[in-house]
Amino acid sequence: MKISPSILSADFGNLSEDVKKVSLGGADYIHCDIMDGHFVPNLTMGPMIIEAVKSATDVPLDIHFMVEDIPFFIDMYKHLEPEFISFHIEEEKHINRVIQKIRNLGIRPSVVLNPATPVCLLDYIVADVDMVLLMSVNPGFGGQKFIPSVIDKVKELRELAEKKNPDLLIEIDGGVNDKNAPLLKDAGADILVAGSFVFKHKSYEEAIKALR
Ligand code: DX5
Ligand code: ZN
Repeated sequence: MKISPSILSADFGNLSEDVKKVSLGGADYIHCDIMDGHFVPNLTMGPMIIEAVKSATDVPLDIHFMVEDIPFFIDMYKHLEPEFISFHIEEEKHINRVIQKIRNLGIRPSVVLNPATPVCLLDYIVADVDMVLLMSVNPGFGGQKFIPSVIDKVKELRELAEKKNPDLLIEIDGGVNDKNAPLLKDAGADILVAGSFVFKHKSYEEAIKALR
């Protein structure tokens, strides 16, 4: 199981220290939640902050856009060369075009589903992406309660992926902890995002080990 700690719950007064600590603690990716105050009722980090994050670590970046005007934001962050860019299909009319835009930049494309968005919407996209991110909370804030219906969604997505994209990575984001991690693993998840569980823990390394 790969772990992608979300820096939304890090100490922003000591962000680069926290990024270094979580990297030494075994993070596989650094999850960066970009919110624009429109798609979600919260505003987070601009590209300058992510530049500071990138210069503090060699761990690949996992960018999660919760924004309107997705192509505009891709252009604003592309120089950071993240491993993944994930965007919400609820927001985008031309999903295939945006997937191709990300792929053409040499970045791995990923689509995100909110908790209420059904897996069947991925039927004609799943073969074109490297990852699907399933939200297990409504996006916008860290520290929310895990929505358990995502477990069945992971199973349904894994079945779809077996037919159409066996290499698909499934990432889960929101309320992930050491109790639901084993259930997510059994259901077929590959990457767990965790914000508060990691950054509120006294040892980031222990928190990451517990999730893994
Ligand atoms: C929520 C963000 C998450 C958030 C997770 O909109 O996408 O990445 O930081 O935080 P926890 O793990 O505390 O739910
Ligand atoms: Zn996220």
